[in-house]
Amino acid sequence: MSFGAKYKKITQIIKDDLTRLEEELKSEINLYPQLNEVLSGFLTSESKRIRAVTAFLYLRASGYEPDERQYNLQTAVEIIHSASLLHDDVIDECDIRRGKTALNKVFNNKIAILTGDYLLATALDRLNKLSTPEITALCAETVREMCRGEFFQYFNLGKIPTIEQYLKKTEQKTAGLFRVAIDGAMKLSGSLNTQDAADFALAFGTAFQIRDDLLNITESSRLKPSKNDLLCGIYNAPVIFSGSTSNLAEGIEKTKNLLNNYVIKMLCLTDKLKDSQYKTALRELLELLNDV
Ligand code: FPP
Ligand code: MG
Repeated sequence: MSFGAKYKKITQIIKDDLTRLEEELKSEINLYPQLNEVLSGFLTSESKRIRAVTAFLYLRASGYEPDERQYNLQTAVEIIHSASLLHDDVIDECDIRRGKTALNKVFNNKIAILTGDYLLATALDRLNKLSTPEITALCAETVREMCRGEFFQYFNLGKIPTIEQYLKKTEQKTAGLFRVAIDGAMKLSGSLNTQDAADFALAFGTAFQIRDDLLNITESSRLKPSKNDLLCGIYNAPVIFSGSTSNLAEGIEKTKNLLNNYVIKMLCLTDKLKDSQYKTALRELLELLNDV
């Protein structure tokens, strides 16, 4: 079975949550007549919704039922993620996103940046509806960290970072938003100790990015130059472990081990959850991370 087919099967048990999320996202597409159709194609198309999927599975596996505020939180997270991609495609001069021409190419950089800003404001509105300053503050710091991760990447182009620097950048750019989705969901549910959720979220976001970086290397010959990290001077775990940009076989193996260590850590964290179909699905999702 392909990755996509396995993923679809796992997410089947939260399909109603995901349908609701899509409806919420659709309801936010009202920014400007000339832009709505393209934004709709971008915001509500080909996306795994991985942040929301892990959050809904974790929340339900912890015995909580999502309510209106949970949908607001996951909508805000997906919108922030989308806004960051609009800006990222301007930074990376990328021309394809989610299988379609990127907004910066359908229009131009100005429109892509403004649309990202508009989405960010929309997400703030959703966060405001939660009336939970702790989550708003976590989210604000996470967006600042995403920018710091981008700054680090920009000012270190062409240099091989240490593994510690790479993991820090990965936590800043990617894992932080998973923490908002998962730890935020648990905080909203009233759960008092959310340390396990935060640890799980950071590990999941990091593992997800490591997997993405592995795919970027193994599929590098099929990627356009602008999507190819090696050609762009962005050096990830396989290059760091190899110590050079050639002969990556050993680096790839070590990166797979690193990824597996995160999966093992998360499996241990989920051991503490009561048995349920959601816990089983969460663990299947973890196993799928190793499918690379
Ligand atoms: C994709 O990385 C981009 C990110 C994970 C985050 C980008 C963050 C910002 C632009 C700053 C925050 C901005 C806002 C509006 C919240 P990638 O280029 O490695 O992956 P890709 O191959 O999918 O482009
Ligand atoms: Mg990019």
